[in-house]
Amino acid sequence: MAAGQAVIGVSGATGQLGEMIVRTLRAQYPDIPVVALVRDLAKGAPLAAIGAELRHFDYDEPGTLAPALAGIDKLLLISGNAVGERERQHRAVIEAAKEAGVGLIAYTSVLRASETSLPIAAEHKATEAILKEVGVPHVLLRHGWYCENYLFRIQAAVDHGTLPTCAGDGLISAAPRADFAQGAVAVLTSREDQAGKVYELAGSTSFTFDDLAAEATRLSGRPVTCVQLSKPAFEAALVEIGTPPFVAALIAKSDMGACDGGLFDESRTLEKLIGRPTTPMSEVMAHTLRP
Ligand SMILES: NC(=O)c1ccc[n+]([C@@H]2O[C@H](COP(=O)([O-])OP(=O)(O)OC[C@H]3O[C@@H](n4cnc5c(N)ncnc54)[C@H](OP(=O)(O)O)[C@@H]3O)[C@@H](O)[C@H]2O)c1
Repeated sequence: MAAGQAVIGVSGATGQLGEMIVRTLRAQYPDIPVVALVRDLAKGAPLAAIGAELRHFDYDEPGTLAPALAGIDKLLLISGNAVGERERQHRAVIEAAKEAGVGLIAYTSVLRASETSLPIAAEHKATEAILKEVGVPHVLLRHGWYCENYLFRIQAAVDHGTLPTCAGDGLISAAPRADFAQGAVAVLTSREDQAGKVYELAGSTSFTFDDLAAEATRLSGRPVTCVQLSKPAFEAALVEIGTPPFVAALIAKSDMGACDGGLFDESRTLEKLIGRPTTPMSEVMAHTLRP
């Protein structure tokens, strides 16, 4: 089937990444039919207003899945946000896609899922294995970290003068969600067969936490110092300021991942896919930081 006629389904379409992808598809490829797969039809109303078809799709209600995938040629399975539940949820979607005859699944995995030590990667690795096991043609969009992950911490650092971390000199190749969204759109609309491809997607430029503190100082005009702590001390400090322990553990593990090089990538694969360098962290900060 010609790329322009394939029906594209997007799961998680009411999420931050999914909504960007549906909006980009509708704006740049108005002739391509887009199905927004959502668990809350009311929340999806703005997507219907721009011409996407809405279908009820809940990873936790297996009965909703295969019927909603009828007629979909390419499915973008955006990984769920219920950490710990995702292997089961993704298996249900992948098995339903097989049953519905979906021609291609694009799955948003994690950077270098096969070898990374990031603990968050376990469910992504498991999902990649399920894609193989179930036998649906698939393409892996392995995402590095989103710039937006750091904005809350950077704002707090401007407010308090310190940016604590346990990331050491670890380089982070982050890009904003909008660039990952554009990358997904490039893969979903490509005329080349995407089955079997693996894209390691990350920012064109990289930064350390020292770089973030320096940029926060420059942009805000207020001194911000990066403070390196051990992982346990950093995690305890996060809990002390009111971060829920589960979230504190995730942040500390993520910073340790950066320390171990797990968030660094210099392949510029995302840049090649979208035809321009990704938006640098400094620019994302300039648009969001309050002095
Ligand atoms: N690489 C990174 O730095 C990074 C950062 C954050 C997240 N992620 C991953 O990337 C994914 C997309 O990111 P995001 O920022 O768009 O996340 P998000 O805003 O939290 O969106 C998650 C989407 O998943 C949907 N969802 C959750 N549970 C569902 C279920 N049981 N059935 C159907 N849909 C369900 C949500 O639906 P509702 O709108 O109804 O809640 C929402 O649309 C996340 O889910 C996570 O796996 C990666």
